[in-house]
Amino acid sequence: MTDSLAGFTYRFEKGSAAGAPSILLLHGTGGDENDLIDLGRAVAPGSPLLSPRGQVLENGMPRFFRRLAEGVFDEADLKQRTDALANFVIAARERYGLEAPIALGFSNGANIAAAMLMQHPYVLCGAVLLRAMVPYADPPSASIPRTPVLIASGAQDPIMPASNPAQLAAQLRERGATVDHRVVPASHGLTQTDVSLAAAFIKNVAAKAPAL
Ligand code: MLT
Repeated sequence: MTDSLAGFTYRFEKGSAAGAPSILLLHGTGGDENDLIDLGRAVAPGSPLLSPRGQVLENGMPRFFRRLAEGVFDEADLKQRTDALANFVIAARERYGLEAPIALGFSNGANIAAAMLMQHPYVLCGAVLLRAMVPYADPPSASIPRTPVLIASGAQDPIMPASNPAQLAAQLRERGATVDHRVVPASHGLTQTDVSLAAAFIKNVAAKAPAL
């Protein structure tokens, strides 16, 4: 069911497995709150799923922040939208009694998840960044000690050079995160390899989390 909270339209699915980590689903450009629900169910069976819709419209397509061109971000807008998304997550945790979630973001959603890790380090307890790019030219210097992050980039992704996600991995490591950066044989779209990597990563994070 679609609802609204802290300025976001979103969908929430209650978890069915005790202790399963909460997942924050962040769609790509042109997606919405329904897009990643099946992916969330596949990679995090039994987890609560929190899935907001990006507040920005680009030619009718929802996004999480504005861009000036493909791969060129409006960083002032990104900063403000990241604050708003952090507030939404905090409000949703209170509404549903959730632990800090693991973000599962694709493309534009992965980019705002990367921004959130560096701008609001305690809002997420980990992140799966599928086809992410460096969100800030000069990112905040927050410390995110041992926060687990999986970056899955596509070897044939036409949207970004291979150096870009590698630079994101380096920025997150410099801030203390534990980053697993995989380059999968794929373009910008997701493949079964991404699904398997994300599922294994989330299972591993859940296994290491302190018992609730
Ligand atoms: C972005 O704008 O966040 C990236 O270029 C990816 C996209 O959403 O197309």
